[in-house]
Amino acid sequence: MKPPPFSAVSDEEIQHAAALLRSGKLVAFPTETVYGLGANALDADAVARIFEAKGRPHTSPVIVHVGDQEMAAKVAASWPTAAQMLAQKFWPGPLTLVVPKTAVVPDIVTAGLPTVGVRMPAHRLALALIRAAQVPVAAPSANRFTQLSPTTAEHVREGLGDRVDYVLDGGPCDLGIESTVLSLAGEGPVQLRPGGISRQQIEEVIGPVITGEHAPKGPHESPGMHLRHYSPRTPVFLVETGRVPQEGRGAYLEISDPPERKVSEAITMPGNAREYAASLYRILHDLDAKGYDWIAVEKPTGGAEWEAVLDRLRRASSTGLEDQGQ
Ligand code: TXA
Ligand code: MG
Repeated sequence: MKPPPFSAVSDEEIQHAAALLRSGKLVAFPTETVYGLGANALDADAVARIFEAKGRPHTSPVIVHVGDQEMAAKVAASWPTAAQMLAQKFWPGPLTLVVPKTAVVPDIVTAGLPTVGVRMPAHRLALALIRAAQVPVAAPSANRFTQLSPTTAEHVREGLGDRVDYVLDGGPCDLGIESTVLSLAGEGPVQLRPGGISRQQIEEVIGPVITGEHAPKGPHESPGMHLRHYSPRTPVFLVETGRVPQEGRGAYLEISDPPERKVSEAITMPGNAREYAASLYRILHDLDAKGYDWIAVEKPTGGAEWEAVLDRLRRASSTGLEDQGQ
């Protein structure tokens, strides 16, 4: 059966966006996780524009998005068995594999690292764009540095304005949380960032995986993992048992514990990690526009499936002081 057409995006638009990519321009596009800010990954000048548009330091490597295995082979100097098995199981999907890079990948993409993060996104628009462009597409999340990742085209336009040449609007992203980043460049697999594919899911395929903070320094380095990341402008507090700040006006994201005092706005969040992740950034974006003094978030207490959500909540609620020296 033929798949239904993309809701509002015509084939001409995809061709136009692909031509822009090929000519060194920036195109924002939807993926199943968040919107990406794309440039031709083989064009150092185009990728430099991504850093400029985001206000992102050059120490942060960018994920390279591919449309098929052949493109992955072009940017990856080696493809370990673990990569093979994981790509087979989870691609297209929210899993970024960090492997040794080839010389065609400019240093600016990888922040000078000898490795490259590669993923094939599970979004028909993203895949159509990359395949039409016929080049791998370097794309970080389409937001200004340290701000919240965008899960709608409106978020992209609000955050980046005319710093982006074109925005493909594919509606809201399904997952709403970024891909898992897994390094296969050293001795054993290391999870550098929890995300859309859980550590358990990965371990079922390749066995034990350690997390970044337990990895020895060296090939698994991930210089882009600044603590203050994924943050709204409004201060965020991660709280337990309804302990919201005593001063000021604020919003409270509740799972099961009501706030200890009356708040300006209380939102009941899903008790399921996947659904929670799917709505979190949109809710934070909306609340951020309301000018509250704070946003208090009830800390989810569930199991391993909450790892990615907890990671993002911790980063969103960081004051930034801990970030010094990273
Ligand atoms: O879901 C996602 O991954 C989204 C969509 C657009 O694909 N992209 C995304 O990109 O979140 P970004 O740039 O915001 O985060 C990518 C992270 C970097 O912060 C870095 O930690 C890690 O991936 N990364 C990328 N390349 C790496 C490399 N060569 N070595 C280690 N870590 C790398
Ligand atoms: Mg990001």
